[in-house]
Amino acid sequence: MSVVIALANQKGGVGKTTTTVSLAAALAMRSLRVLIVDADPQANATSAVGATKDDEGGLYEALVDERPLADAVRATEIPGLSVLPTTPALAGAEVELVSVMAREFRMKRALDALRPMFDVILVDCPPSLGLLTVNALAACDEVIIPVQCEYFALEGLSHLSHTIELVQRNLNPRLVIRGVVLTMFDGRTNLSREVEAEVRSHFPNTFAAVIPRSIRLAEAPSHGEPINVFDPTSSGARAYNDLADELIAALRARDLLPQPPVVVPSTPTAVAPIVSTPHEVATIPATPHDVATIPVTPHDVATIPVTPHDLATIPATSHEVAAYETTPRDLAPLDLTPERIGHTEQTHGA
Ligand SMILES: Nc1ncnc2c1ncn2[C@@H]1O[C@H](COP(=O)(O)OP(=O)(O)OP(=O)(O)O)[C@@H](O)[C@H]1O
Ligand SMILES: [Mg+2]
Repeated sequence: MSVVIALANQKGGVGKTTTTVSLAAALAMRSLRVLIVDADPQANATSAVGATKDDEGGLYEALVDERPLADAVRATEIPGLSVLPTTPALAGAEVELVSVMAREFRMKRALDALRPMFDVILVDCPPSLGLLTVNALAACDEVIIPVQCEYFALEGLSHLSHTIELVQRNLNPRLVIRGVVLTMFDGRTNLSREVEAEVRSHFPNTFAAVIPRSIRLAEAPSHGEPINVFDPTSSGARAYNDLADELIAALRARDLLPQPPVVVPSTPTAVAPIVSTPHEVATIPATPHDVATIPVTPHDVATIPVTPHDLATIPATSHEVAAYETTPRDLAPLDLTPERIGHTEQTHGA
């Protein structure tokens, strides 16, 4: 069970790469096995996770020479997050593939072989609707469209929607538009709020999570770290965490991700029916501390039968003996007649 998601918008600089990298890291931090596929010859996603651009082999070789991709996958510093780096050579693939048969399916064939290794594969597309983006749309199950909250936000979206429809009709009938992600939202401006309202009215499946404009998000790539590592408490990191949670819920609803393990809560009724049998009680060893802390009531004492044997075995301390006062009443029952005393003396004298 795995899902391939393309992040596409032919408009440049709208947050495709930032969303791919930050979302991928947030998903990996939720214990999913995630792969970033850098399908943009600019190789921004590659450097944003600290990978090098001049690694041997990669998407170009897979598309043009049909070489397997598994050897080109690189681990990142984030557990569970891998990247398929790219090189500027990928730009040549657009031209070299033009005369190739079934050229739109090269990426699909390459990525399908990687599916068993990952739960989620995110493909960062270049800012064009050329062969690389069409290959990504043909290879994926779903597409996410990042849209920047600025004046011309909707410009070009109808062109993108039309391209997606063509792909659905001719190449990939299963393709689903997962939703639009609003990026670089500035809550202080009316413009951002107007753009948000307009995008939501055109695309009801726009994610609830909105990515704010944040200087920390712009700084993170230069450190080769996703925002979730660079500044995990920043507003940008929190927004991408929310986006990841929303996406996971949607993918689980489509059965594209494993369901979470069922945790049985312990309720008072679950605890209540436990009853100790006399046998269990008898076998629990009581410590001196336990005994000292058990309150004994006069009623308890009255009902404890004391046998002569018990009394004989209780050693009396000297303190207890000293505190014992002999009253005339105690002495009265004793046989202290002169005869008795004399008898006793005689006995002693004998
Ligand atoms: N939420 C944000 N707040 C501030 N800056 C951002 C935000 N998202 C992205 N940026 C910055 O905006 C620029 C463009 O972002 P990004 O590279 O993610 O867009 P893109 O759509 O991938 O661009 P391209 O079309 O060139 O591939 C980058 O400098 C990035 O650091
Ligand atoms: Mg980019």
